[in-house]
Amino acid sequence: MKPLNIGIVGYGFMGRAHSNAFRKVGNFFPLDRPIVLKAACGRDAAKTQAFADTWGYESIETDWKKLIARADIDLIDIAAPNNVHAEIAIAAAKAGKMILCEKPLAMNAPEALVMTKAVEKAKVPNMVWYNYRRIPAVTLAKQLIDEGKLGKIFHYRAKFLQDWTISADVPQGGPGTWRLDASVAGSGVTGDLLAHCIDTALWLNGSIDKVTAMTETFVKERQHALTGKKQKVGIDDASAFLARFSNGSLATFEATRYARGHKALYTFEINGEHASISWDLHDLHRLQWFDHRDPGIVRGWRSIHVSDGDQPYMKNWWVPGLQIGYEHSFVHQVADFLAGLASGQPAAPTFRDGLATDLVTDAVLKSAKSQRWEKVKRA
Ligand SMILES: NC(=O)c1ccc[n+]([C@@H]2O[C@H](COP(=O)([O-])OP(=O)(O)OC[C@H]3O[C@@H](n4cnc5c(N)ncnc54)[C@H](O)[C@@H]3O)[C@@H](O)[C@H]2O)c1
Repeated sequence: MKPLNIGIVGYGFMGRAHSNAFRKVGNFFPLDRPIVLKAACGRDAAKTQAFADTWGYESIETDWKKLIARADIDLIDIAAPNNVHAEIAIAAAKAGKMILCEKPLAMNAPEALVMTKAVEKAKVPNMVWYNYRRIPAVTLAKQLIDEGKLGKIFHYRAKFLQDWTISADVPQGGPGTWRLDASVAGSGVTGDLLAHCIDTALWLNGSIDKVTAMTETFVKERQHALTGKKQKVGIDDASAFLARFSNGSLATFEATRYARGHKALYTFEINGEHASISWDLHDLHRLQWFDHRDPGIVRGWRSIHVSDGDQPYMKNWWVPGLQIGYEHSFVHQVADFLAGLASGQPAAPTFRDGLATDLVTDAVLKSAKSQRWEKVKRA
């Protein structure tokens, strides 16, 4: 069987999460071709070599162009900051490589459109790492909605709260704080955190027609980690928007890095005519379920421990009652990508799905400026 040779760009947080998934997936999911960690790419040779040694990559490159030029690489995995996604993905598509790209797909929707056209023209398999879709409790929510168990959906409510940039001493730019530099991140919490909420929402509840938003940058100037100079902050620190979905439901979305006490509180709740569901990243293996059709005397919120073999992905793991965690969502994404390759039915989210999210985040940022409702373009 021909192995699938991976070349990864970036050895940070996501470089580790993806590498862990590539290594584990074959132990838990049947693969029709083995994965080989062929090369890791980063600009610092010593750090890249240390990463390659830790995770078992056969070789290293310090220039992603050289990685793409290699005939022994089948798939380019982009685990680097947002400002380099487009250049790498477009070059990889032209070279005929499969591409897995981190989220948000691009700095903005026009850039995401160029990337999407590039992979579609080259007909290369492509996927965006919106991994939360593949947390079993979230996948179960999708199953329940698709089975019609909630009935008509009235409300979608999502938030993603953090608190790590409250201090004005946190710099912008450079390793670790590139998310605060608009020229590298594209936007602030809108592209970083709300993008996750939006991807899940589009998947669970369909397309969004229009949005009205407000954003705020609480700390106006920060020192740049690379130049040492104080610079204007160009990102949004907090972002909240109202949305109208095409199915008639109303939504609220909120993300911030100024919610003291919260580290990564991603939650959503969906209210339908018969039932409601809610989910919380801090308790990610549980799905909360309320069904109005239950007999009145036992009606109430159920906390479903998603660990049984007939619940999504769980038959591939341990025994009922034993839960899995964050890193497994990445394993599932690789498993589904490979199953998609084998079946010829590409797994989502593709670049075009990633573009759909970028179109919503662009409309959110536009509305925050215009102070009006803005229509969301279709991907
Ligand atoms: N799916 C998720 O839940 C999730 C979580 C975190 C980050 N992300 C996304 O993953 C991407 C990376 O984020 P991260 O948290 O891993 O960042 P990070 O800062 O931890 O790592 C980024 C890596 O990219 C490398 N890099 C930067 N520019 C490069 C270049 N020109 N060529 C080669 N390597 C380069 C850095 O050296 C570093 O190794 C971002 O797009 C981010 O939005 C997604």
